[in-house]
Amino acid sequence: MPNAVWRCGLLLLLLFAAASARGGSEVRVVAGKDATLACEPAITARKRMGPDYDGPDLVRRVEWRQNGAIVASYQQGFAVDAPRQWWVSSARMQWVRGLYSLVISTTEVTDTASYECRIEIDSAFDAPYAEKPGVVRLIVVGKPDPPGRAIVSSFTARSVTLSWPHSATPPHIPIQRYMVMVSYGNRPDLNSHKLVYANGNETTLVVSSLRPYTEYTFQAIAENEAGRSSPGQSVTARTKGEAPVAAPVIKQIRNGTDGTLIVEWEPPPPMTLHGPLVGHRLMAHQLRTGAMKEWYVQGSTTRVHILRGLNVYTKYMISVEADNNFGYSPMASMIVTTDEGVPSNGPDVTSLQVKSSESIYLSWVPPKEPNGVIVSYFVYYLTPGREAQPVISEVNANTSSG
Ligand SMILES: *[C@@H]1O[C@H](CO)[C@@H](O)[C@H](O)[C@H]1NC(C)=O
Ligand SMILES: *[C@@H]1O[C@H](CO)[C@@H](O)[C@H](O)[C@H]1NC(C)=O
Ligand SMILES: *[C@@H]1O[C@H](CO)[C@@H](O)[C@H](O)[C@H]1NC(C)=O
Repeated sequence: MPNAVWRCGLLLLLLFAAASARGGSEVRVVAGKDATLACEPAITARKRMGPDYDGPDLVRRVEWRQNGAIVASYQQGFAVDAPRQWWVSSARMQWVRGLYSLVISTTEVTDTASYECRIEIDSAFDAPYAEKPGVVRLIVVGKPDPPGRAIVSSFTARSVTLSWPHSATPPHIPIQRYMVMVSYGNRPDLNSHKLVYANGNETTLVVSSLRPYTEYTFQAIAENEAGRSSPGQSVTARTKGEAPVAAPVIKQIRNGTDGTLIVEWEPPPPMTLHGPLVGHRLMAHQLRTGAMKEWYVQGSTTRVHILRGLNVYTKYMISVEADNNFGYSPMASMIVTTDEGVPSNGPDVTSLQVKSSESIYLSWVPPKEPNGVIVSYFVYYLTPGREAQPVISEVNANTSSG
């Protein structure tokens, strides 16, 4: 007799297969929590049969199947509480007696399945509704798998645009949000990093407020209701460089020989370089004339240079700029005068008058290119016909006659 009921039940099962696949209920739990699967036919039977339901012989057999395989069964006729009366396939499963619910404790992602509850009612009762299996779709939500390696799609001196692939499987969906772990340097740093959040579950993100010409390592992380994935494979990128933002410091400018200037400087502080220091540019602007000379000093360690070819006793604005291949820094400058040189030409005598038998009155104009402050003039005179040393007379510079 029970066999006939089962066959009949199977037939009904086929008839109702389409309906139950669509119908049934869904239970969603986060991995680690307990899930209670209600046995729908038992609940219906209890409603329809009222007090009869609690009669000791009414429910003859109950079965729970997970994706078709029996995982728990109740069988009337065994001694009360015999292991075979309330059988479960796993220590994590437990019957709720009376309603034949199945509790799965400390759920795992692999518990995700379609569960079916079938009951067999004593054939003395006409209960076709109880023959339709109850279907519960259990979804155990686990932490998502880590996203794939991020791709740097563009970067500037201060930002990097990233995107990453991620194939989230149904038990992990919906992904609530993504974030990117930003570490300084060329490897992930779990102790010192910054998390930058994407806009919800978009798989792209612009990381800004970065420093120019600096290496960073990025790893994407996915988060759902069960928690965060471990960080995905890392990608390292260097931000673009830009011109140094601080000027070098001129330490000293000294007069060298022959109108040269010796310039000594310090490059800008490393934190302000924003690129590799490759050299310095020195310029000398002659004041009021617009004339300009330029020197390029290669290398990051050179700190001194001699400026040649300048005019003597001339005012210049000397400037120094640092070069990092991305541009020149602001300039450091200083106004200096080159050293004096000997006058380029002599004074021109403008008049000569014989005053008496013992004196001559001489006047002249200062040289056109004195190359410094004239401190004195020398007047030479010889007595004609005599092979002798010339007589020299020194005259204060403020005089132009004597
Ligand atoms: C992203 O979020 C939306 C809205 O919350 C959600 O509908 C969608 O399923 C999520 N996508 C993934 C891949 O989890
Ligand atoms: C170079 O020498 C001139 C003349 O002696 C002086 O005026 C000037 O200040 C000196 N320049 C520097 C940079 O020391
Ligand atoms: C020339 O005269 C000026 C002012 O009259 C004075 O300051 C300067 O010292 C004098 N120069 C010399 C070389 O005597």
